[in-house]
Amino acid sequence: MNQEHKLGAVTWAKRGSFILAATGSSVGLGNIWKFPYIAGQNGGGAFVLMYIGMVLLVGIPILLAELVLGRRGRASPINTMRALSRETHSSRFWTIIGWMGALCGLMILSFYSVAAGWVLAYFDHALRGDFRGLDGSGSLTLFANLLANRDLLLLLHTVFILMTVVVLALGVKKGLESAIRWMMPSLFALVIVLLVAAMIEGEFAQSLRYMFSFKLSDITWESALIAMGHSFFTLSVGMGAIIAYGAYTPRDMSVGRTVLAVAFLDTCVALGVGVAIFAFVFATPGISPSQGPGLMFVTLPVAFGGLPAGDVIASIFFGMVILAAWTSTISLLEPSIAYLTETFKMHRAASSALLGFIAWLLGVGAALSFNDWAHVEILWGKTFFDTMDFVASNILLPLGGLLIALFVGWRMSAQQLNQEVDLAGSRIMRIWRLLLRYLSPLAILIIFVYSILPVLQAVFGE
Ligand code: PHE
Repeated sequence: MNQEHKLGAVTWAKRGSFILAATGSSVGLGNIWKFPYIAGQNGGGAFVLMYIGMVLLVGIPILLAELVLGRRGRASPINTMRALSRETHSSRFWTIIGWMGALCGLMILSFYSVAAGWVLAYFDHALRGDFRGLDGSGSLTLFANLLANRDLLLLLHTVFILMTVVVLALGVKKGLESAIRWMMPSLFALVIVLLVAAMIEGEFAQSLRYMFSFKLSDITWESALIAMGHSFFTLSVGMGAIIAYGAYTPRDMSVGRTVLAVAFLDTCVALGVGVAIFAFVFATPGISPSQGPGLMFVTLPVAFGGLPAGDVIASIFFGMVILAAWTSTISLLEPSIAYLTETFKMHRAASSALLGFIAWLLGVGAALSFNDWAHVEILWGKTFFDTMDFVASNILLPLGGLLIALFVGWRMSAQQLNQEVDLAGSRIMRIWRLLLRYLSPLAILIIFVYSILPVLQAVFGE
């Protein structure tokens, strides 16, 4: 039945394209912007350890589950779930995995593209040498001025959406695959150059100690939950991006090894960039590693500004972040574009433009959250930007991941799974199934309840 699906004909042309595309999706602002600062805020090494644990116990099993769904359905997440609920005699309810994922992709893209726009602005600053001699307050002003400049934020957001739409409009092979083929090697090369620069000019040893030594007392309940939430976001699981990319994988791919490679590369980039960032931060007197969200846009420019050849390093750094964000944004729209093209026979260019426009429109609200609408509350004290991030990352992703784990764990038979994963009968396969059935859903339920608890308290508390 798989072969006769309309979209089954599209397959990545080259070996390794899925690994590159999935790694491109997972390596993004989550690794470079979010990970170092949440590690910095949650005790460094202790957080890193918990994060790795969460990737192994929750992230990787669900990543594999998404890939299996895509390979079996060979269509967009919505149509995949429609076909698979029929095949497994399950309720049509499961199609919600696809619908929620499409919505979640649009929502993430809206605020992600605005933040990626800041990166474009900082790349430009780096090229112009604007960080030279910058001090803490100068750096704060630079960032505050950017956020206050509504028209510039809108322009940069528009540019990033256009960059995303152009790649997607060209199609799976000519657009996605050929973009990924040059962007990912360039991204890896830039990460390595950055690490070498950090070794030469930064406090590398101190940074390594900070990232990898830990005190048990640093492990708290809350940081464990933050680590788990981040393992979803960083691996791009829970919204169907991997289902969509998985639908284009060739039959003879080594599935288990591929999933491990994606998770390994994603973690390596997060750790490598984290070590480099802290090495630069420790080399600059008076700035602290536990800065919070401003780490990349406020702290790091100060560190770059004081280094020899700092302009070059800063340009390499922000250039790398652009590539990382770009290969993530394309994966946010692929599930819904695939749905429109296969269901309504829409042209790729038309569906890409339409969905890009919807994400752009939502993103206008996200861009205005820092200026004209800074005081507009959408959800309980949150701006539009924060609302999009909260609903997509803390509600839709874990919920999607939960449903994916339950569907693959409980509705698909061992025989069906064995047909998609080349590990039939092995112990890994049994452990994976157990994780999907019990441990991952339980763990997700815990973060889910925890992360919406403050909201429920705010609503019903008084
Ligand atoms: N994984 C991406 C990052 O770390 C974000 C993302 C989430 C992309 C979900 C696609 C889907 O930046």
